[in-house]
Amino acid sequence: MPSKAKTSIKDLPHKVFTFFLITIGLITAITIWGRNYTYYLMPLQERPTSARYDSLRPDGIESHGYGVIGTAMIFIGVATYSSRKRLKRFANLGKIRDFLDFHIFLCLVGPILVLYHTTFLFGGIAGAGFWCMTAVVASGFIGRYFYKFLPKNLQGDELSSRDLETERAELLGSLVSKYKLDDSTVKLIDEIGVIKFDESKASLISLLWYLTKMDLSHWQNSRRLRAILRRRSIPKKYIREITRIANRRIVLRQRMLVLEKIRQIFHYWHVIHLPFSYVMLVILIVHVGVAVAFGYTWIF
Ligand code: HEM
Ligand code: HEM
Repeated sequence: MPSKAKTSIKDLPHKVFTFFLITIGLITAITIWGRNYTYYLMPLQERPTSARYDSLRPDGIESHGYGVIGTAMIFIGVATYSSRKRLKRFANLGKIRDFLDFHIFLCLVGPILVLYHTTFLFGGIAGAGFWCMTAVVASGFIGRYFYKFLPKNLQGDELSSRDLETERAELLGSLVSKYKLDDSTVKLIDEIGVIKFDESKASLISLLWYLTKMDLSHWQNSRRLRAILRRRSIPKKYIREITRIANRRIVLRQRMLVLEKIRQIFHYWHVIHLPFSYVMLVILIVHVGVAVAFGYTWIF
């Protein structure tokens, strides 16, 4: 039997990167709130009497800065992800999922800064721009949920059903050749984690239900796999790795069943996330154009 593969270590840099981004995002949002919340909670008519009014009103040095920096973050977040996804020459710069995490980080912290820029005033065309931005951010979370069910390779590029079938066959090969599992054990393993789904009749609700069951079944599948392997007297030191491989096979089979449906939904999802981004961009150009025309150029 071969030595154990250290697969969980592979994910570590990504987890550290995500943790780092989340920490910076939270620190930024909480620090600004902690610094200014008494102003934000003040009744509107009393704000001009505050000593911090000049700096904190939307065109004041601090809040205006949040608007400019937040908007720059959103632009960078969209430009970097789009370039990585669409331009071949960016393909070697890193995994697409890291770029997506970076997109989400910048396009989440950016809008939080823009929220502080507005000082919770949402009037006029700029207010409409703010609500478009909110719709884009909210739809982003929905897209991210479905995105995780689209299978990708290590670089983060999407895989086809055939790729999944090939990977399943390769995993089976390693269970049989490396770990010498016999046919009856493989058959038992393959009976685990089967969830019925009729794609032709499936509604969005039944898809969501399927995905939830799929997520929840993971832990139970591992438990059942380990029990089977123990009954077959597989040495303890290989159980973890075999469970990981078998679990991956189960997940691939579960995903193949709903792959087309998820692709369809993801396609429709773009119809919200992208057009709202464009509307927001048009409003932003008008808003910034008017502001600059009236001499609000921040520190420039
Ligand atoms: C997505 C980006 C942005 C959004 C959604 C946004 C939204 C808003 C909102 C809702 C207000 C308050 C309107 C009110 O008083 O009811 C405001 C004010 C203001 N914003 Fe922005 N803003 C953004 C970016 C920027 C940028 C980049 C600048 C830089 C030039 C800017 C300059 C101003 C100025 C000068 C004001 C105060 C005057 C006014 O109300 O028009 N904003 N913004
Ligand atoms: C104001 C904020 C945001 C803007 C303007 C924005 C804009 C965009 C744009 C233009 C794309 C398409 C890139 C391309 O295909 O070339 C995109 C992709 C995506 N965004 Fe955002 N986004 C924002 C926030 C978010 C947030 C907060 C999330 C998640 C929580 C998110 C999740 C996604 C996902 C999952 C994709 C991938 C779509 C794909 O590759 O097919 N976005 N976003």
